[in-house]
Amino acid sequence: MKLILKSLGVLAFGLSLTNCSDKKETDAYGNPVQEKTEVATETTVDPLLAKGQELFEGKGTCTACHKPDTKVIGPAIKDIAKIYKEKGASIAAFINEEGEPIVDPSQYETMKTNFAITKAMTAEERKALEVYMMSFE
Ligand code: HEC
Repeated sequence: MKLILKSLGVLAFGLSLTNCSDKKETDAYGNPVQEKTEVATETTVDPLLAKGQELFEGKGTCTACHKPDTKVIGPAIKDIAKIYKEKGASIAAFINEEGEPIVDPSQYETMKTNFAITKAMTAEERKALEVYMMSFE
């Protein structure tokens, strides 16, 4: 939902840019200001990201224990992403039981119960969950 709102915002921003494009902007020296190309790249949403969000909130049931910024039963997604980035570790491997817990090993047993779900997923689905979680900062 958050993502959808975000892309709507980007879209609206894009539209408002188009609307005033007949006015040529100039900088302090009277030179025409370069068209911004940012908008085009911002709207390109990684399909794995959307899929990851769907799995995270849906059949993965991950939201039951993981919220974006606050620790509930499990660590905040932001904190997990930060540590995985620092260590260059792979969430896809972890949820396929191919890695060690590096965030909160003392609570590993609680997380482990989810491997029944994540190990039954395809490699692409596990990768999508990784892409989604790593998009938090
Ligand atoms: C029943 C609650 C619960 C659910 C549901 C849950 N988790 Fe967790 N998760 C935890 C707890 C508790 C930890 C902290 C223990 C740990 O770090 O291993 C954790 C830790 C993690 C970590 C960090 C592991 C590390 O290296 O320490 C990742 C990644 C993760 N969860 C992903 C997921 C994903 C993806 C899902 C959904 C498929 C999910 N979790 C569902 C409770 C849960």
